[in-house]
Amino acid sequence: MDLFEHQARQLFEEHGIVVPRAEITDSPKEAREIARRLGGRVVVKAQVKTGGRGKAGGVKLAADPAAAELTARQILGMEIKGHTVGTVMLAQPVDIESEFYVSYVLDRAAGRFLAIASAEGGMDVEEVAATRPEAVARIPVDPAEGVTSAKAGEIASAAGLPPRTADVLVRLWQVLVREDALLVEVNPLVRTAQGQLLALDGKVTLDDNAGFRQTRWGAEHEDRDDPLETAAAAKGLHYVKLDGSVGVIGNGAGLVMSTLDVVAGCGARPANFLDIGGGASARVMADGLSVILSDPAVKSVFVNVFGGITACDAVAEGIVQALDTVRLTKPLVVRLDGNNAARGRAILDEHAHPLVQQATTMDGAARRAAELATAAA
Ligand SMILES: Nc1ncnc2c1ncn2[C@@H]1O[C@H](COP(=O)(O)OP(=O)(O)O)[C@@H](O)[C@H]1O
Ligand SMILES: [Mg+2]
Repeated sequence: MDLFEHQARQLFEEHGIVVPRAEITDSPKEAREIARRLGGRVVVKAQVKTGGRGKAGGVKLAADPAAAELTARQILGMEIKGHTVGTVMLAQPVDIESEFYVSYVLDRAAGRFLAIASAEGGMDVEEVAATRPEAVARIPVDPAEGVTSAKAGEIASAAGLPPRTADVLVRLWQVLVREDALLVEVNPLVRTAQGQLLALDGKVTLDDNAGFRQTRWGAEHEDRDDPLETAAAAKGLHYVKLDGSVGVIGNGAGLVMSTLDVVAGCGARPANFLDIGGGASARVMADGLSVILSDPAVKSVFVNVFGGITACDAVAEGIVQALDTVRLTKPLVVRLDGNNAARGRAILDEHAHPLVQQATTMDGAARRAAELATAAA
């Protein structure tokens, strides 16, 4: 989960990284009050989970409280890269002398972290990285060793940052570790004319796998890209929207991944990834079906189950019960294999729902589901 700038800022502050004074609001009137409290002149900043706000007109200097109100009114409701601005942050303006870039990001392929730093930070850092990669230092960080002062000194010197930034680099690493983040970025980290080091903008991506112990940010407010993904997440389902017409439900992420491939191999396109996991209870099946059936792009649904500890008869019972609560509006092709497959198939046969058909192999079921989707298109 990505955090908003004001949340990232709070984490930085808690770990001793200096940030400008700032407050958030969703009301232009209150923006005026905040500006007054902060000394009059403020930077008004759109709070959306995307970068490039400055270039999109979402970061503006306001000279006094009246201007802050006006600017907040302009920025609130603005669309930035598909995100609607619901909140603005008002921050004390800083007298910038230099802008640096520093971040730590998980490097999955290498199995460690990467420190990325540059003395040429700010809004054009992507361009710097593209045109002059030598201006951006990339230093591997061993997660077991972390960023000690010595390591931080190495990063700062490789990037040509002032040696004093080493302290910020150590603290930023502590943010990453203690908050279970996959990415922490400060851009810009600035040196002011008075020689102070401040983090003016922050991005933090938390590891969702640590959500159970990082509950403070409330993932329920997460703005997902897709309403179906939002609905599925609310039901606790592992669902990813795709762009095809064959709905897919399976038990186990690996099986679902291969199901997507087999559907694609049959000349159709999967409409989603949905792993209902090992338990596959009637309720989970019903929740999964209701999300998939509410997708107007879905023309047929392929339920692919390999019975293991949860045997096929239990899954078949689950499907039958789910059909009591969810009105089936599209054809369902079910493939049951593995533990107690024969009993599972018999349960579905007995139920004899007109829109449910069975296939004994994964390939056969995928072909059937693909045909049904194509016929309905
Ligand atoms: N408090 C501040 N005081 C002075 N300048 C600021 C302040 N906050 C941001 N800026 C300037 O605005 C630029 C863009 O703001 P930033 O928060 O980095 O947004 P984004 O990266 O989304 O464009 C920064 O690079 C910095 O030059
Ligand atoms: Mg920035």
